[in-house]
Amino acid sequence: MSTKIDFESLWLRSLDYRIQQIMEEWLFFLSFLEEPKTSLEIGAKYGGTAFGLIKVSQEGGHVISIDPLPPRVKDLENERPSIKYSFLQGGSQESYIIQKAVEYAPFDVLFIDGEHHDDSPTQDFKNFLPHMNRKTGIIGFHDIKGKKSVVEIWSKIKSISPGATKELVTTPGKNGIGIFFLGKAREEIYLKSYSI
Ligand SMILES: C[S@@+](CC[C@H](N)C(=O)[O-])C[C@H]1O[C@@H](n2cnc3c(N)ncnc32)[C@H](O)[C@@H]1O
Repeated sequence: MSTKIDFESLWLRSLDYRIQQIMEEWLFFLSFLEEPKTSLEIGAKYGGTAFGLIKVSQEGGHVISIDPLPPRVKDLENERPSIKYSFLQGGSQESYIIQKAVEYAPFDVLFIDGEHHDDSPTQDFKNFLPHMNRKTGIIGFHDIKGKKSVVEIWSKIKSISPGATKELVTTPGKNGIGIFFLGKAREEIYLKSYSI
């Protein structure tokens, strides 16, 4: 856990970027990130979560956002000039977007908060899992209680790798953040034949 970050100020600045998270849940997630080098987020909206990822990155780090809508974020790249910020405009399941994103892999952090329909969060998980840092990688899911598609993938991950997850749900039946620690995951999760 990083000790250098002032999480209260970080949260207040995240509001400038209209973050779509519950404060306690988002700060809970960030508190497990140990100065990541490369972070990928799916679903940028106004940049609130990208801002947090930029703030906790190591010097010279890189944050990449994927979103089909044009950037609605302003000045994010100037928040910390030593951190590179890339915005990939497109859907996270489009093969050209995946191809572009994985050029920046391996990822230390993946935050999944894009399309919430059907099996989209599951596809995002499966598409980017092979490109994560297996020893120290961390995958966050938003809406583990709020959206059926996320509830499903999250319960599968927990059943396959109990002991590799943590979660915080501040309002029963709503929102919620799930964190998957790849270093504690069972190897089977990486097998293509494994049903998830
Ligand atoms: C809940 S918002 C993200 C909020 C942001 N993470 C935050 O907390 O500040 C969801 C975003 O996902 C984007 N989105 C929708 N479909 C997507 C897709 N297929 N791939 C990536 N992003 C998608 C939407 O345009 C929207 O900006």
